[in-house]
Amino acid sequence: MKDSQINPQEHSEIKVLILRKYLEKYLSILSLAAHVNEVEVYDLFCGEGVYENGKEGSPIIILKLINEIYAKNAPQIKGKLTFKCQFNDRNIDKIEKLKKSLKIKDLHIDKIGTVNCTSSDYNEIKQQLSNRRTTSNKRTFIFIDPYGYKDISIVDIENMLSDKHTEVLLFLPTQFMYRFEKNATPESLQNFLNEAMKNDAGNSKSPINFINNLRDGFANRLKGKHYVDSFIITRDIKQYFSMFFFTSHIYGFEKFLEAKWDIDEQQGRGWSPIHVGQQDLFNQVQTKPNTDHFEENLLVFLKEKRTNIEVHNFTIENRHLIPHANTILKELQNSNRLQVTLDDGKDARKGSFYIGWNEVKSNKIKSNILIK
Ligand SMILES: C[S@@+](CC[C@H](N)C(=O)[O-])C[C@H]1O[C@@H](n2cnc3c(N)ncnc32)[C@H](O)[C@@H]1O
Repeated sequence: MKDSQINPQEHSEIKVLILRKYLEKYLSILSLAAHVNEVEVYDLFCGEGVYENGKEGSPIIILKLINEIYAKNAPQIKGKLTFKCQFNDRNIDKIEKLKKSLKIKDLHIDKIGTVNCTSSDYNEIKQQLSNRRTTSNKRTFIFIDPYGYKDISIVDIENMLSDKHTEVLLFLPTQFMYRFEKNATPESLQNFLNEAMKNDAGNSKSPINFINNLRDGFANRLKGKHYVDSFIITRDIKQYFSMFFFTSHIYGFEKFLEAKWDIDEQQGRGWSPIHVGQQDLFNQVQTKPNTDHFEENLLVFLKEKRTNIEVHNFTIENRHLIPHANTILKELQNSNRLQVTLDDGKDARKGSFYIGWNEVKSNKIKSNILIK
């Protein structure tokens, strides 16, 4: 069964689905990256691990994933890479429950790292995580999953990202925030909205528009330093929650976009209960990504000659995937509307555009692309 066919009772199951999808890509890459020797994973509002109904929460998902990745890549990881996990929840009873569950499930990462379970307040831990000095061979992932928004501030997230080797995944109950954006806005929300959206606060036309305004507000604030995206979780009819993803690295951003498009093959926007029905009904039909808007933007962008690196970055910054751009470029080439030349001026081989990560990561220009 595909992930998108799961019919969750709770949006929390989708939360951990996107957490898992992204972390799987992120940790697999880091475990093979020669220059990375330490990965820290922080789950700052981790909950109790296993719920009454047997459902597994974020700390269990994270530890299982690290074990799976180790099982797959043991020779490359052993002796090279250490994982450090910190699971934190202010509620000490939940932390005790979590520790018990880890024991019962025999879940540990003793061969490759450490697990630290703590019961501090987020406000204490965020200080430790802000403005850390870190080395270039260390990477950090922080999951922030509060019940509300009161403790959350974009300034704190900016501080956590400041070492440029940290990624943050934040869940916000945007449905409730949207409702209060209009009426009787509590002071804590007003402060948050002013910080994130500036003049647009209070002007959202719909819950989705509210999420997009938040995302764009975060992105504007962090422009030039960090990338931001959202993943919308629809529960019931017209109830929207959202995850926000922050990274300093375009490759990390690409991996998050891949996780999103894996789940929502048509829009790359989020998850909704419609996914379940549609997939069953049309499971013979290949879902096609909706790239119309991106195609319009790409056509305008390519009116000027662009390097393969510029086309790669433009695609990711427009929240699309390299296969989407490749499909559009191939169609243009087939209708003789595209000129692709190599660095030496010769025509590139048909169907080769050199815009994938492996072709751009060295930052050396390999091709130039122009609409004829
Ligand atoms: C939405 S739940 C987390 C769910 C968890 N991520 C999972 O997947 O199961 C939020 C948790 O945050 C904890 N919490 C609330 N306020 C906190 C604070 N200021 N600092 C740390 N933990 C807090 C609560 O005890 C609760 O367990």
